[in-house]
Amino acid sequence: MTATAAAHPAWLPTAAFAPLGRRAIAVVQGDAQTETVAAEAAAATTAHGGSAVRFTGEAPRADIVFALEGGLGDEAFRVRRADGSVTVAASSGRGLLYGFFHLVRLGEAAFEGSGEETHEPSRAIRILNHWDNMDLHPVMGAVERGYAGASIFFSVGDGLPGSGHVRDDLSRVGAYARLLASIGINAVSVNNVNVHHREARLLTDDLEHAARIAAALRPYGVRLHLAVSWAAPVMLGGLATSDPFDADVKAWWAEAADRVWAAIPDFGGFVVKADSEGQPGPFAYGRDHADGANMLAEAVAPHGGIIHWRAFVYNHTQDWRDRSTDRARAAFDHFAPLDGRFRDNVIVQVKFGPMDFQVREPISPVLAAMPNTRVALELQVTQEYTGQQKHAVYLGPQWTEVMRFDFGGDSGQTVAALAQGGFAAVANVGDDEFWTGHPFAQANLYAYGRLTWNPDASATDLLDEWIGQTFAGEDATTAAAIHDILADSWRTYEKYTTPLGVGFMVRPGHHYGPDVDGYEYTPWGTYHFADRDGIGVDRTVATGTGFAGLYPSPWRETYESLETVPDELILFFHHVPYAHVLHSGTTVIQHIYDTHFEGVERVQRDIEAWNAVSGSLRDRDLVAGVDERFAEQLRSAIEWRDQVNTYFLRKSGVADARGRRIY
Ligand code: GCU
Repeated sequence: MTATAAAHPAWLPTAAFAPLGRRAIAVVQGDAQTETVAAEAAAATTAHGGSAVRFTGEAPRADIVFALEGGLGDEAFRVRRADGSVTVAASSGRGLLYGFFHLVRLGEAAFEGSGEETHEPSRAIRILNHWDNMDLHPVMGAVERGYAGASIFFSVGDGLPGSGHVRDDLSRVGAYARLLASIGINAVSVNNVNVHHREARLLTDDLEHAARIAAALRPYGVRLHLAVSWAAPVMLGGLATSDPFDADVKAWWAEAADRVWAAIPDFGGFVVKADSEGQPGPFAYGRDHADGANMLAEAVAPHGGIIHWRAFVYNHTQDWRDRSTDRARAAFDHFAPLDGRFRDNVIVQVKFGPMDFQVREPISPVLAAMPNTRVALELQVTQEYTGQQKHAVYLGPQWTEVMRFDFGGDSGQTVAALAQGGFAAVANVGDDEFWTGHPFAQANLYAYGRLTWNPDASATDLLDEWIGQTFAGEDATTAAAIHDILADSWRTYEKYTTPLGVGFMVRPGHHYGPDVDGYEYTPWGTYHFADRDGIGVDRTVATGTGFAGLYPSPWRETYESLETVPDELILFFHHVPYAHVLHSGTTVIQHIYDTHFEGVERVQRDIEAWNAVSGSLRDRDLVAGVDERFAEQLRSAIEWRDQVNTYFLRKSGVADARGRRIY
């Protein structure tokens, strides 16, 4: 029930359960998740001296009563407080489970005051996508873009092709499901969206092992989804085609779906990356994304299944000399014309920006262009482009900015409102002691879950919630120091890495550390076009790729004009001279220098602040983990500063107005 010995308790240390565990708790008899609530109550009261009882029918007198009651949504719960006692009511065990962790979060405050309030998640599907491989991938390793050790679901066996398998011991998966339930996540897909041959077989000969994963997730109300290969009928079924219009192909998928749901009755559905970065898809047969997604949707519909069809589709073999192809346009050009053609049980999963999880990008215009489609917002909790869980970067502020972005005009809606299909994100967890490599990266997992439940929550409040539980029992100075280090860390990272929305400039392949021209002449479509006069990508309608025109008004005008484009995105939309003066009053070149110096200075100050409190922290392993990563963050930030500043000094010939050392 609890985390295995090797795993850090994250935000659920025993101390966080003291306010509940000291009291008398009564839990109704009920379904699987209600049983989990009862086990949680028993564990908490055993640890802290309270008592836990079960009941049927009328609730006994207790400080906390968990009762089943009709009339509430599937995952909702209602909290009633009176005279120091609390009743949590829900129509299912999942609701009770969410209510239980709600009380844990509140601590003693849960028992103050009186009244009644109802809580329910903003969206029905709140999923994490693991990019875990079963076989060791020669470049990506065990987890694609994973920075926290190996997969918690799979063992790569002896490392030879074909020897990977679902782990025998899935206790870590159970502990993970518990963390997820405590933040409101209700679904995970466990294998990489780039589905290699080994993982494809999860659907067939490995189904019983996939069912074991589902069983480990189930007590905490987390559903299993699988990423599937479009080519599965050929790869696994021996068919000559995977054309979505072919009768045998349809029958193969229908049988596959029947088999999966027979083995896993609460299975969630399939995640698909098709015709993207070398993955097979319906284009090979002259069919489009809607044809492909709908065929799969039909196969899973009898079981209430969902198809998450990813919109991350672009030409990754473009020519840097060709300025008419713009990767930023690709998802829009492929998907917007298909609006209204997807079946109801298809969710088109759209990355938050038009490129690829950069530290700063505009919001993807696809999110506003498909009003007749269930779209999901896709975020990246794993820090592929944001420090790879070596740098302390809290992404809550980025995500709240994304979710609250208002497209205005006709659509007049925020991203959170448009994301009718819910929220998805690439997971950041592995078998690392702290789950996430950098212990502070736990805050990102925490904030993602809580934001999917309530996109209106404040990133700062969520940070404090995470600190309060994770460091329960530590003093207020420590909490304040960690708060100050993390609250602004996303902007700090932006300062010492890629300026003004230009993105990338990372080392090709693994994407860690600076390499300003690393992708400049590659086929991936991620260019900055810096020359001796200026920098940036002209994406205007007037003279550029026209990407700015894909936004509804007023954004298309805002981004089109140098007068109104926000500073932080200017180089995404415009190619400007180094002497161009930003709204901030600084020139582009001076902004590059200033922010790179400031970013490094901020990291130095953060380390000092950490050193001032870390000596008194009881968890010495955590302190050692953070110390080690801070040393690397500083080294890397200095590397970024010096490479970026030197590059632009050499290109532009413009000296730093403050005469600081640039190499
Ligand atoms: C990025 C990432 C890849 C991943 C891809 C995706 O490009 O670098 O590793 O496969 O996104 O989202 O599918």
